[in-house]
Amino acid sequence: VRLKYVFWLDASLLFLFCALEVVPFTGLLLHEWVGLAVVPMIVVHLLLSWTWIASSTRGLVRSPSWRGRVNYLLNLLLFASVTAVVYSGILISQDAVPAMTGKTAIRLDGIFSWRYVHNRSANLVLFLAGMHLAMNWTWSVAAARKILAFGSEIRR
Ligand code: HEM
Repeated sequence: VRLKYVFWLDASLLFLFCALEVVPFTGLLLHEWVGLAVVPMIVVHLLLSWTWIASSTRGLVRSPSWRGRVNYLLNLLLFASVTAVVYSGILISQDAVPAMTGKTAIRLDGIFSWRYVHNRSANLVLFLAGMHLAMNWTWSVAAARKILAFGSEIRR
């Protein structure tokens, strides 16, 4: 039952991140709302991964392996870039955030801009989320097999 929730949450996150990377796919208004909706989903994703986070943090100090180190660094960078993309997204928001705060949206120009940060961190998220999926590929395929009952004829 737990695996089912984890799997569908992760699958939804994967789909929503793909949609978020291509703004014209949803339009900007939906992009902003989806971008905000993804935040609580990520929090749940992290809470469900808490055992890993806790044990690998301990393992990093006690018995570091190269795979463990790389994976840990990757996940840390992914967390940082998702935080950056959401933070900058909120600051450049043209619809969703102004609608909630009642303030006028900032103009999307200027020399230094959060728009630049948003674009760059979105690129990073795309790359790192891809690596994250690759790192957890064995788990993902095994979970997909179980839940979607692929290859059930093989098991029987
Ligand atoms: C959570 C993950 C998010 C990802 C992966 C993401 C990704 C992207 C990407 C790839 C673009 C297109 C950049 C370009 O034009 O080259 C973009 C634009 C934009 N995003 Fe996001 N975004 C996210 C969250 C948000 C949030 C939460 C908001 C606001 C509430 C937001 C507001 C915007 C705005 C206003 C633009 C247009 C900026 C422009 O025209 O340059 N985004 N986003």
